[in-house]
Amino acid sequence: MAELGYEVIGYDVDEAKIELLRAGKVPFFEPGLPELLTKQVESGRLRFTTDIAEVAAFGDVHFVCVGTPQMKDNFAADLRYVHAAVDSLAPLLTRECLVVGKSTVPSGTAATLAARIAELAPGGDAVELAWNPEFLREGFAVKDTLTPERLVIGVESEHAEKVLREVWAPLTNSGIPLIVTDFATAELVKVAANSFLATKISFINAMAEICETTGADVTQLAAALALDTRIGGRFLHAGLGFGGGCLPKDIRAFMARAEELGVDQAVGFLREVDAINQRRRARMVDLAREQVGGDFAGKRIGVLGAAFKPNSDDVRDSPALDVAATVQRDGGAVTVFDPQAMVNAKVKYPQLSYAESAVEACTGADVVLHLTEWQEFRDLEPATLSAVVAGRHIVDGRNALDPARWRDAGWTYRALGRPSS
Ligand code: UGA
Repeated sequence: MAELGYEVIGYDVDEAKIELLRAGKVPFFEPGLPELLTKQVESGRLRFTTDIAEVAAFGDVHFVCVGTPQMKDNFAADLRYVHAAVDSLAPLLTRECLVVGKSTVPSGTAATLAARIAELAPGGDAVELAWNPEFLREGFAVKDTLTPERLVIGVESEHAEKVLREVWAPLTNSGIPLIVTDFATAELVKVAANSFLATKISFINAMAEICETTGADVTQLAAALALDTRIGGRFLHAGLGFGGGCLPKDIRAFMARAEELGVDQAVGFLREVDAINQRRRARMVDLAREQVGGDFAGKRIGVLGAAFKPNSDDVRDSPALDVAATVQRDGGAVTVFDPQAMVNAKVKYPQLSYAESAVEACTGADVVLHLTEWQEFRDLEPATLSAVVAGRHIVDGRNALDPARWRDAGWTYRALGRPSS
């Protein structure tokens, strides 16, 4: 928002994060963001605080961007942070302003929050709620924010629509479409989009399962399907499946909410989408086990990748670390390397060993597992690893390496959904 020309205060309850941000440091890996943060902090348009009263007095528009993770013991979204944010801000809102929800929430949340704001805000009718879901991808957050494919706003008054049209004018003036709708639709656009993307990934992964039995090649299948413009090639990449802090928990929260609303049949297919996704991880472990002769006991396994996808240090629901931990639990000695996610991985999976480089992770390995498709791993020379491994076996969990290159260098190359030779 500072880049678009606004005066911005960022607020968080976490003092340590605010200190980092004030120093121009981003507390996670996101390409392009450190440069943008430094630029805007230096411009004076962006500052940070842990004082909510300062924020309440300052803002014409308050974006609420807190997380909605999965509950520990069921599929539903944990809304405690959204409620805490609104409950601490609303009682301090004495003047005209718009509170804008960006968090991914179950249907009906915006209506509940609007009622809560009406109850708590001393500013009365001058304080309103709107919903403005967020569609950015990790790794492309800066681009997706400054040039999104669309903006969606859910509003309950002409005034709220006018304010948000003004806020987003720098983007809509350059042709970015803005959809104006109600709360219920705005909430649903986000959840439906992520469900569709998850379904597309699980569809091609289901085809990979068929390929494994029929001898077909899922990468060629996907390439052929992609040429049908009605299908398209994006999110049709077969492999270890989806992870991260969004797709897995969003489809589960959607199922949980649909059940509460009595419409669980409508999204019953998401249970299968989730199941296909989990089966890919199990299949990956099986392929790895085959490569070491049927038993992990006494075997060394080099793992390339820990983040849930490249260009991120996020290890939430990471397929790579799930596979690594399962192999280790089944008796293998696993060593992991990731270009950015090592710190987070070590916190979440302290039982695994970690290396300082891809070569070190593969040194002495009986099999190498390629689980997150960083460019650095795609660029690896088979000959470099040939010199250090105990056995030239690689399983490509992301269908991102060139089979011919590895086979020509004397390696057994296996991948999900592709023939064994
Ligand atoms: C996802 C959505 O793509 C964003 O639009 C959305 O805003 C975001 O969630 C969110 O809800 O905040 P993100 O979680 O950053 O973004 O990651 P994706 O790029 O969607 O990838 C998700 C997972 O799917 C990764 O593990 C990736 O490896 C996997 N994937 C993706 C595949 O297995 N195959 C594909 O073809 C594409």
